[in-house]
Amino acid sequence: MTDTSKSPAGELVLSLSKISKQFGAVSALTDIDLEVRAGEVVALVGDNGAGKSTLVKVLAGVHQPTSGTIAFRGKEVTLADPSASLALGIATVFQDLALCENLDVVANIFLGKELHPAQLDEVSMEVRAWTLLRELSARIPSVRIAVASLSGGQRQTVAIARSLLLEPKLILLDEPTAALGVAQTAEVLDLIERVRDRGLGVVMISHNMEDVRAVADRIVVLRLGRNNGVFYPDTSNQELVGAITGASDNSVSRRSVRRAKLDLNQGAQS
Ligand SMILES: Nc1ncnc2c1ncn2[C@@H]1O[C@H](COP(=O)(O)OP(=O)(O)O)[C@@H](O)[C@H]1O
Ligand SMILES: [Mg+2]
Repeated sequence: MTDTSKSPAGELVLSLSKISKQFGAVSALTDIDLEVRAGEVVALVGDNGAGKSTLVKVLAGVHQPTSGTIAFRGKEVTLADPSASLALGIATVFQDLALCENLDVVANIFLGKELHPAQLDEVSMEVRAWTLLRELSARIPSVRIAVASLSGGQRQTVAIARSLLLEPKLILLDEPTAALGVAQTAEVLDLIERVRDRGLGVVMISHNMEDVRAVADRIVVLRLGRNNGVFYPDTSNQELVGAITGASDNSVSRRSVRRAKLDLNQGAQS
C-alpha cells in the first residue's frame, strides 16, 4: 500500500491567484496565492488579524474578493454566495459550529438538508448519520441524544460529519481544536486525518503549532494579509514563529536596536 499521508499528490482541488480583499480602507488580504490538493491537509496559520478568517469566508462565498482569481478543480469560478460554494463542493465548518443544542445528532447532521422534507424520513436519516459517523470512526454514544449533552470534541465531530453530507471535495475548518482539551484534540486530529484519507482537500486554521505539526502536510503562513512562506511539518518552531510574527524585522527587535544606540550615545555623553 502507498502511504498517502507522505505523498499528497492528488488532483489540484483549489488554486487561488492574487486574491485581495479590502474592507473600505482596510486591506484584509493582499495578493494571496494558495493551492490545495486532494488528500492533503493544508494548515493556515498567522497572528490575529493576519486574514485567515477573511480568506476562509472568501472561499465559503461569504465575502467577495476585491480582485484575484479562484480556480476550483481546474476551472475558474465565482463564489457569489455560500450556496454557490457548497454546490461546487466547498464545505466550511466555522468556529462557532452553528449546531442546535436542543436537537439530536441526526437532526443536526441533516439540518436544512432533510432527505424528504415533506415526510422527514427519520429512519433513512438515522442510518445515513450512523454510517457517516462509523466511517469516520467517530466516538458518539448515540445519534439520538441532544447535542447539548456532547463534549466539545464530539460537537466538532458532528459539525464535520454534517459538512461531509454533500460529499464535498474541499473542507475548511476554522480553529477546530481551539476550545478542546488534550484527549478531545487528539480525537479531532484523528478525524481530520480520516477526512483527508477519504481524498478530500482540507484547509485547517489553527493557532496551535503542535496540532498543525501533527496533522498538516503543508503549512501556509499569512502575515498582515499577505503570504509569508510555505513550510513543512519538520520546520522548527523558531522558524515558524519567525514567519508568523516577522521576527527578523519586527518592532520589538527594531526597538531593541534603537535602545542599544541610545545607550551608546548616553554613554558617550556622560
Ligand atoms: N467585516 C469586516 N469589516 C472590516 N474589517 C474586517 C472585517 N473582517 C475582517 N476585517 C479586518 O481584516 C483583517 C483580517 O482579519 P481576519 O481575517 O479576521 O484575521 P484572522 O482571522 O487571521 O485573525 C483585520 O484587520 C480585521 O480587522
Ligand atoms: Mg480569525
